[in-house]
Amino acid sequence: MDKIKILSGTTSWELKEKICENLAVEPTKAEVSRFADGEIRIQIKENIRGCDVFIVQSTHPPSDNLMELLLLIDAALRASAKRITAVIPYFGYGRQDRKDAPRVPISAKLVANLIQCAGAHRVLTCDLHSDQIQGFFDIPVDNLYAFPVFRDYFGTLPRDKFTVVSPDVGGTNRARAFAKRLGNLPLALIDKRRPSPNMAEVMNIIGEVEKRNLLIVDDLIDTGKTVAYGAKALKDKGAKSIWVCATHGLFSGNSKDLLEESPIDKVIITNTIPIPSHKKFKKLEILDISSLLAEAIKRIHEEVSISELFV
Ligand code: R5P
Repeated sequence: MDKIKILSGTTSWELKEKICENLAVEPTKAEVSRFADGEIRIQIKENIRGCDVFIVQSTHPPSDNLMELLLLIDAALRASAKRITAVIPYFGYGRQDRKDAPRVPISAKLVANLIQCAGAHRVLTCDLHSDQIQGFFDIPVDNLYAFPVFRDYFGTLPRDKFTVVSPDVGGTNRARAFAKRLGNLPLALIDKRRPSPNMAEVMNIIGEVEKRNLLIVDDLIDTGKTVAYGAKALKDKGAKSIWVCATHGLFSGNSKDLLEESPIDKVIITNTIPIPSHKKFKKLEILDISSLLAEAIKRIHEEVSISELFV
């Protein structure tokens, strides 16, 4: 792995260490600290001139995570890196991806502009909230699916009477692909309404769920209401067991209690976002996505296909 340099901001430090372990490369030394007033101060501590640089940083709140990423990209550019890939395991601000109400921003487009203007040459990310965000960039974007990580986990479970459930209409394609790859499992769909942001209301359930083991598939869990209220409606319809898998665990507010007290049997996420101990709960299982990211980084560096990872 000649001339590869992998560094990160603070939030993705642990994930970067694991990625480097997978690739058997030393993490590149970079200092991310604060000025007295709280402003971020960055310094890359080794020569990266002419190198293929990968900067790992998820951009979940607080916005300092995004700012660290932008400053690291700028530092790498000014240090004459040959190519800079922003590795963004969780792409924050992805949910406002279109103008669906008067006088709202398209936040995902603005964030894409910022990353590109800072000097990134490519983006590697994972389970974008919507595929069209790739088009907000004018640089190559590789959007990985966490599916292989979940498949390894579910591969050990009995498939008998399992149905994959999309928690809303927008997630149907994701759930359908998941069901197909898990061996053509049946699909069900929750018709969800959002009366206001961060609220979720179940209107209808489409598909057979009675006496079945259900696997709700989503890209992220924030307040937990989508999957907790969805699970309650599924249980009321006679579901046998309910599993949830989502790539990104944000777990805002009292989501921990909501999920713990819900009829959900198990919540399975990946470590695209670090989960502090106060947000963890008994039903939660965190899968390690570092080997998938490491393999994608290796393939970008060696300029070989990434899509082959998902056949
Ligand atoms: C919605 O489109 C997303 O895929 C998630 O279902 C949603 O953002 C989860 O949010 P919460 O956990 O707050 O219901």
